[in-house]
Amino acid sequence: MPESLLVRGGRVVDATGERAADVLIEAGVVVAVEPGLHGDETLDAAGCVVAPGLVDLHTHLREPGHEEAETIETGARAAARGGFTAVVAMPNTEPAQDDPAVVAAVLAAGARSTCDVRAAGCITRGRRGTDLAPMGELHALGVRVFTDDGACVESAAMMRRALEYAGSLPGAVVAQHAEDAALCEGGHMHEGEWSSRLGIPGRPAVAEVSVVARDCLLAELTGTPVHFLHVSTEGAIALIRDAKQRGLPVTAEAAPHHFTLTDAECASFDPMFKVHPPLRSAADVAAVKIGLADGTIDAIATDHAPHAPETKERPFEEAPPGMLGLETALGLTLTELVEPGVVSLSDALALLSWRPAAVAGLVDHGGPVAPGRPAHLVVFDPAATWTVDPARLASKARNTPYPGRTLTGRVRHTLRAGEPVVIDGEAQR
Ligand code: DOR
Repeated sequence: MPESLLVRGGRVVDATGERAADVLIEAGVVVAVEPGLHGDETLDAAGCVVAPGLVDLHTHLREPGHEEAETIETGARAAARGGFTAVVAMPNTEPAQDDPAVVAAVLAAGARSTCDVRAAGCITRGRRGTDLAPMGELHALGVRVFTDDGACVESAAMMRRALEYAGSLPGAVVAQHAEDAALCEGGHMHEGEWSSRLGIPGRPAVAEVSVVARDCLLAELTGTPVHFLHVSTEGAIALIRDAKQRGLPVTAEAAPHHFTLTDAECASFDPMFKVHPPLRSAADVAAVKIGLADGTIDAIATDHAPHAPETKERPFEEAPPGMLGLETALGLTLTELVEPGVVSLSDALALLSWRPAAVAGLVDHGGPVAPGRPAHLVVFDPAATWTVDPARLASKARNTPYPGRTLTGRVRHTLRAGEPVVIDGEAQR
């Protein structure tokens, strides 16, 4: 690495505001933020926004167990190309991240990658919902987010026990995949007009709303923070809004596909549009946007869920749920939320960077861009347009629902602790 690196000529945007400034980095740390600086090497940021690196609360990296779909290395590369400097790796690996040895291996591989990979730990052993994972041991390894994602913690008693236990672990948050399995049994898409027309069994909104209602009550009872993963329904968002007004320790995230796509896409029977929770109605999509704009939803999280091509080439009802997200999240947010005026640019960055960093307790991430802070940065051109080409994604998988979609806003450089891991859109390793 050079002695000093200068990110020159950009507009710095962070939680403290925005200003035109160069950013000087030495030994992985920001040392000055002001106009007219000099460095040994320079990265051009003219016309670009320079912001704290993006933070994804919800990434499936598939390693161990499904390296044919993604590895920690390829997923971290996709993250870096998407502008993310930290991701929380979901624990539905095989074996699951319910074991200190598995979590330690994920963290070790993450340390060698181009992104800061934090492991989420399971709430219950094997995500089976029957007995608690060794949460204390996982916490000792640095785990702060506990979830059985992909599966809902069905039993209210188990969720209560997990919250009571997590309450003794500093900084721990219990993240719920709110979908009642019994109500979703046999369902493959949102239950509504489109599922009736297409003859595809549905997963009803009430499956999400009922679990959110219950877990808001459990957050109140225990005082332990509950984070709601990928919220997708008007009803759940209304409950979370009320819970926050009552001062309950709840947070929530929404995925880009839930503010950009509706269940009408399933009319193509294309399994690329299959995801859990499913693409919802236009009214739900509108509610997600309102929730993002009014602060009810704390974070945009990708739910990046790579699947090998042969699995997604099956019929809709047989294909696994999930879609890629890391490389399109920023572009979708700028195109679908910032350009139409749903949220400001700085609010979009709050949703993609500093608010998720706060939810997961990632104190090194989320900025501000200030002397003394680790140089985890994204530099993006907010006006550049590009077209999503699945063949050009850094992810090992190809299951994006956005092929051919033109997006505004493109990542130019990503710096992890001062190392330029992406330069001019190209991953450096
Ligand atoms: O669509 C989904 N895919 N939702 C989940 O909760 C799990 C994920 C996966 O792991 O593929």
